[in-house]
Amino acid sequence: NDRKVYNLTITNKKMAPDGFTRKMFVINDKFPGPLIEVNKGDTLVLDVKNDCDDVTTMHAHGFFQRGTPWYDGVPGQTQCDIQSKKSFTYEFQVNQSGTFWYHSHSKAQYIEGIVGALIVHDPDDPYLKNKDYDEEIVVLLQDWYHTDSKTLLATFLSPESAGNEPTPDNGLINGMNSYNCSGAPNGSDCVSDAPLANFKFVQGKKYRIRIINTSAFAAFIFSIDNHPMDVIEVEGMITQRRTIHRLPINIAQRYSVIVTADKPIGKYWMRSEMETACFAIQSDTLNPLVKAIVEYEGSDANSNASSTAWTDSQETCVDLDTSTLKPYEAQTIPDADYKLTLNVSFQPDDKNVTRGFINNSSYVDPNSPTLLKVYENKTTFDSNRNAYIIDKDKVVDIILYNTDTGDHPFHLHGHVFWVLGIGINGTSPDYNSVNTKDPIQRDTVTAPAGGWFIIRFVSNNPGVWGFHCHIEWHVQSGLVAQFVTQPDKIKELKSPDDWSNLCKN
Ligand code: C2O
Repeated sequence: NDRKVYNLTITNKKMAPDGFTRKMFVINDKFPGPLIEVNKGDTLVLDVKNDCDDVTTMHAHGFFQRGTPWYDGVPGQTQCDIQSKKSFTYEFQVNQSGTFWYHSHSKAQYIEGIVGALIVHDPDDPYLKNKDYDEEIVVLLQDWYHTDSKTLLATFLSPESAGNEPTPDNGLINGMNSYNCSGAPNGSDCVSDAPLANFKFVQGKKYRIRIINTSAFAAFIFSIDNHPMDVIEVEGMITQRRTIHRLPINIAQRYSVIVTADKPIGKYWMRSEMETACFAIQSDTLNPLVKAIVEYEGSDANSNASSTAWTDSQETCVDLDTSTLKPYEAQTIPDADYKLTLNVSFQPDDKNVTRGFINNSSYVDPNSPTLLKVYENKTTFDSNRNAYIIDKDKVVDIILYNTDTGDHPFHLHGHVFWVLGIGINGTSPDYNSVNTKDPIQRDTVTAPAGGWFIIRFVSNNPGVWGFHCHIEWHVQSGLVAQFVTQPDKIKELKSPDDWSNLCKN
């Protein structure tokens, strides 16, 4: 097992991922950030140097951080921000494998560029051992705004927005797309027809494509013309193969699919279609269809792709129906011994700003992280932290009921959970309909508008773990909770000094 060190320097930079120039945050001068690859069992070191004009943090999304809860990267929960011109090193053991990503957890920075893919390889992966694929491809999907998030947030968190989220200007695949500059404001620095991402296929080869949605707001439906995809992984869980044509993928979700390059040599469209049906505000200038090119070796360089899209219908604003996916290896699901019901709603606060509420409380970023409070022997937290204390090793069910008119992709830090059931609009949580026999495990699940989900996790990882909607606008408007698990055991873990020093500024 190795110790793999990645140096990540955060700066501001003007870039034009889709031809429209704007100020961004970048890692090591690049966008998206560097691809991080480790093996299961490695120690991963993220050496973050903050050379940008703002505070920052780094969160490895989907990692357990067992024994190192202070390296989970969440300001207000697990650490204080890394100030401008300061550095901080995260170091943790990687005892899981699959498709992950990393991003800043401060303000809305990740949607402005502090984002990248994090892949954990496992030599025992059954599809790898069977030689079911020859090569790997990583595909980052995201929506893209031409206005900085500070400006967007100021409007969103004011009475005039009425809680309607800003609509993206564009979408990107691996940080690229074109944009029609006639939609851009006068005087902007914009070039139409910027290049699309291009993926090379060799005829006869099989590819494991790892798809990650790193959006602020948009869910996507992903497909490659003429090429069916076999789903084999959901957020670290290896599944039995299931062939699909179109993959709905919400924010922070990941899938691996196997695609065989068995079509005539040529160019085909990769499509990532923004699910604008879930948006509060429709836009005239947004082209919801984000494209990239899949180019077989030997294609005519001057030809264009002329393939046509799959026509299968697909429900929008809901997850891929994971009840149709089966774990590769059978699991035994323990019974729950603690049930927590959470009601999600959006309501105006006393200043008439629409905010997200979980059980009548809206999260406000505190100055001092909850984990530090635990070390200071605090046992109660004010309601703005939305902290739920689970003091023993328990099997927890979260029954989340979404009374809002939008869908919400919820992510739990530090764990994976079984998706026991999801109910659509107009139904109420129903234990009789759930699957406790062979559900899949993941770390991000969508609560449909007016619907619900029931998830189960084993709370045996001492730490402070965020649980939040991954729509970045909703994080900023308070749709966030946290679990403080086994505080006594947390205190037995020795936290590093450079970590607590972050809070002494
Ligand atoms: Cu992608 Cu709170 O994380």
